[in-house]
Amino acid sequence: MKEITRKRFLSQSGKGIAGAALGGVVLSGVTPSRVLGANDRVVLGLIGAGGRGKVDAKGLAEQENVEFKYVCDVNDLRGHDFIKDMKEKQGYAPKRVIEMRDIFDDKDVDGVLIATPEHWHALASIWACQAGKDVYVEKCPTLTIHEGRKMVEAVRKYKRILQIGTQNRSGAYGYSAREYIQSGKLGKVVMVKCYNTLNGGPWSPKPDQPAPKTLDWDRWLGPAPYVPFNPGRCSSGARGRGWQQHWNYCGGQLADDGSHVLDLARLAIGDPGQPKSVFCAGGRIAYKDERETPDVQSIIYDYGDFAMTMDCTECIPYNKKSNNEVRYGDKFPYWPQNSTRIEIYGTKRMMYLGRHGGGWQVYEEDGKVVDFDYGYKPDKVHEKNFIDCIRSRKDPNGVVEQGHLSACVVHLANISLRVGNKQLYFDAEKERFTNNEEANKLLKLAYREKFRIPERV
Ligand SMILES: NC(=O)c1ccc[n+]([C@@H]2O[C@H](COP(=O)([O-])OP(=O)(O)OC[C@H]3O[C@@H](n4cnc5c(N)ncnc54)[C@H](O)[C@@H]3O)[C@@H](O)[C@H]2O)c1
Repeated sequence: MKEITRKRFLSQSGKGIAGAALGGVVLSGVTPSRVLGANDRVVLGLIGAGGRGKVDAKGLAEQENVEFKYVCDVNDLRGHDFIKDMKEKQGYAPKRVIEMRDIFDDKDVDGVLIATPEHWHALASIWACQAGKDVYVEKCPTLTIHEGRKMVEAVRKYKRILQIGTQNRSGAYGYSAREYIQSGKLGKVVMVKCYNTLNGGPWSPKPDQPAPKTLDWDRWLGPAPYVPFNPGRCSSGARGRGWQQHWNYCGGQLADDGSHVLDLARLAIGDPGQPKSVFCAGGRIAYKDERETPDVQSIIYDYGDFAMTMDCTECIPYNKKSNNEVRYGDKFPYWPQNSTRIEIYGTKRMMYLGRHGGGWQVYEEDGKVVDFDYGYKPDKVHEKNFIDCIRSRKDPNGVVEQGHLSACVVHLANISLRVGNKQLYFDAEKERFTNNEEANKLLKLAYREKFRIPERV
């Protein structure tokens, strides 16, 4: 490997890189609810104190002068440990609430972290924007394409900072890959192949039953249609998920881990707009059970001057995500069996690119590596970038417009699958399909009355 290349990229890939340096744009005419100075206290509320919410919240709380005033969860078993930790750290306990609007109503609060299941992300984000709060919302940021459009409108209308939890947008390696590709050294990019080949298992339904007293089931369902409580939809204990198997709450594994891979691929190739068409094969193939979301998806996106594919599974035990040596050190994954790799094929060379700090390597024939950049797990940079942007009013790295486009790639493929594995043509301007009315019906959900996203946000 050429030392000169290592040096060339070293300056851009330092472990402590300031996230805001990765391309933030100053928002003009911004009127935050409180005008914060560079070191002013930032007051946050956590909404959704499950597995990820606590990890993100801990990372945000580690930033200088950041406090959590609220923890909101509809499951009374969740969040108490974080409240205890925060009491020790900040000298007072965050208030535990069950209704997120209590947080939005508090003028002291600058921002919220939304780590609920996906069916709540858009509505909670829009309510927060309307209340003048900044938002860190976990991926996949939306359940439908319509939700994403409304989220973009709300962020811009209310001049909010909204960071999407696609933390690879704060990893320097994605940007150095993009710079490398734009320099023409791969030749013309003709094909991008994405992978999210994870393991899974069979799923069995459970009988409907009364919701436990510790769970506010109506609030958990929120915008989704009312159905009786079922532990197969929402595990009611202190740990675990059930919602990823149901279209009304999640876009399956493609929306979960797959959305990170698709987002990083889009970033590296220069954030293209919408594809012209999509085709998704697959379904429940390995496990023929009653789960709604697929365990195999093989997708082709036509972008006109290049093609992109995505293979997403929940039934492959032998491919693995990058290990900690890769995530935190100067190591590359074993690419052929890396679960979450991206292969970018140019007319001269090809690049392997990996999330979880995978970095990238460029190959010529006979396995010769000619250029590379290491990666480091970017979660902390992403969290810092959110807090920095609350203070600076610059757009964050996980900016809403790109988050919406990356989420669309997920939704387009799922819709193609759900209408019977059909190739669908998409009008990017109208954000509608041109050849399938059944598919158009899946662009938007029929929400319950009190949880409807308004047409005019
Ligand atoms: N960025 C990443 O790398 C990453 C990693 C893991 C998970 N995630 C994302 O984080 C989100 C949460 O995932 P998780 O694994 O923590 O799920 P989880 O089921 O463990 O937690 C979700 C929590 O939200 C609560 N909740 C549901 N409705 C609510 C409401 N209306 N108000 C308040 N709380 C509500 C639930 O009771 C639960 O405690 C998902 O979108 C997931 O995709 C992101």
